[in-house]
Amino acid sequence: MMILLWVLACSLAALQGCQAQAPAGNLVNYTALFGTSPRKDLDFLQLCRYDGYDCEAHNVTTLDGYILSVFRVLPNANCTEHKQPIMFMHGVYLTGDDCLTPGPGAAHCYLYSDACHEVWVPNVRGNRYSRRHVYLNPDRDDKFWDFALEEHSYLDLPASVDYVLAKTGQPKIAFVGHAQGATMLVLLCAKYPAYNDKISVGFGISMTTWLNHATFPVLTVQGVLAPLLTGAVNLGVNGELFPHGGITTTAAEALCGLNTASYPFCSVLLFATLGYNRFQITNETLPVVVGHIPGGTSLKNFNRWGQIRKNGFTEYDYGFVRNWVKYGWYRPPQFDLSRVSVPLVFLGSEGDVVAAVPDVIRLRRALTTAELCVLADKTFGHLDFVYGKDVPNYITPKILSSIENGTYVCDGYFV
Ligand SMILES: *[C@@H]1O[C@H](CO)[C@@H](O)[C@H](O)[C@H]1NC(C)=O
Ligand SMILES: *[C@@H]1O[C@H](CO)[C@@H](O)[C@H](O)[C@H]1NC(C)=O
Ligand SMILES: *[C@@H]1O[C@H](CO)[C@@H](O)[C@H](O)[C@H]1NC(C)=O
Ligand SMILES: *[C@@H]1O[C@H](CO)[C@@H](O)[C@H](O)[C@H]1NC(C)=O
Ligand SMILES: *[C@@H]1O[C@H](CO)[C@@H](O)[C@H](O)[C@H]1NC(C)=O
Repeated sequence: MMILLWVLACSLAALQGCQAQAPAGNLVNYTALFGTSPRKDLDFLQLCRYDGYDCEAHNVTTLDGYILSVFRVLPNANCTEHKQPIMFMHGVYLTGDDCLTPGPGAAHCYLYSDACHEVWVPNVRGNRYSRRHVYLNPDRDDKFWDFALEEHSYLDLPASVDYVLAKTGQPKIAFVGHAQGATMLVLLCAKYPAYNDKISVGFGISMTTWLNHATFPVLTVQGVLAPLLTGAVNLGVNGELFPHGGITTTAAEALCGLNTASYPFCSVLLFATLGYNRFQITNETLPVVVGHIPGGTSLKNFNRWGQIRKNGFTEYDYGFVRNWVKYGWYRPPQFDLSRVSVPLVFLGSEGDVVAAVPDVIRLRRALTTAELCVLADKTFGHLDFVYGKDVPNYITPKILSSIENGTYVCDGYFV
């Protein structure tokens, strides 16, 4: 119930135009709540350098003028040969920081770098690193926030992939996507089949498409809100949602801004919106996670996932009337995935309340070149695929050996 209230409050705050950036300094006393870490407030480049790795920031402009920050983590300095580049694509509400958060020996980027791969880390439009456009101002122009999963998939991702191929001179890169990040690859390859040949293998960790079996309460709320929000968004109501550091200006102002004592409560709710398993996220990692989430998105994209929860893995829902014009039917059609031919490996867990195994099986069956490995550890949760202490045990060695040796060894079971 409280989550429902919070989501409502955030949505309302967004409707009122909550684009304002958070004031400098953190109003939430995470130290009192979760302990602290010197890595908590560092941005991507600072964090990467603090951890002793070489990295760079690149600007990539999409066809429609969004300027994305695409980070590059170089192979570990002790590497003599440089292996195939890997792209890491973060999930919804999040940022490329996820590739670094748990630190050396545990984070995706560092483990790939140690194995002598360079890692390219795009940030989708609208998150803290990609709040830029050639002429739109994210703080003033609502038009800036007029995007959702489709724009991430059909504009942000191809711009990033083409940039990396051009920069590295490689014919193909390997791809690791978390949740929405992996959804983006499937949609891109379905819409523009040339991209099937630009990715050697795509890993979908905690793969989100159909959400019919998701038990995560926030998704249920999103599904219930979808008809209402779809109507509002189609009338032009939109704006920034979950900006980085902006919990104080969105949810905080609407619900938690009553007094400072309620801030910690709000940050806990924020955590809850992303799915959280306290057994996997160590005490060292927790404050760093809290310092780096959320990354920001649009209300439209928040609602887009509500539509998918409600409708299935279908095209954008324009509402009853405009769907007739666009699709010739009152409901949007399912995505046509028949042109996806890139080799895909999905990694799922029975403990994932967002990407539930039966839904990932459904996706696997809709594709001809995908396999699904379900982890033996049934407690592994949605965020544990990026922040969990067992990432270097369950996830990255399999990905690396698959990239290097061509076959995926599943320790759990194949479906
Ligand atoms: C935050 O909490 C910690 C631990 O309780 C305390 O030492 C610190 O002074 C607090 N910081 C602020 C800004 O209140
Ligand atoms: C990227 O854009 C930012 C802000 O416009 C600029 O400061 C930075 O130098 C650019 N980086 C590169 C590598 O061009
Ligand atoms: C380089 O150093 C990292 C971190 O110490 C280590 O894990 C990795 O195996 C080393 N790589 C090579 C190629 O020696
Ligand atoms: C994390 O800290 C709590 C409280 O200090 C402690 O009870 C718990 O055992 C710690 N967990 C780990 C994995 O170290
Ligand atoms: C690839 O296979 C070779 C030979 O079986 C093995 O030595 C190597 O460790 C494998 N690479 C990875 C990353 O697992």
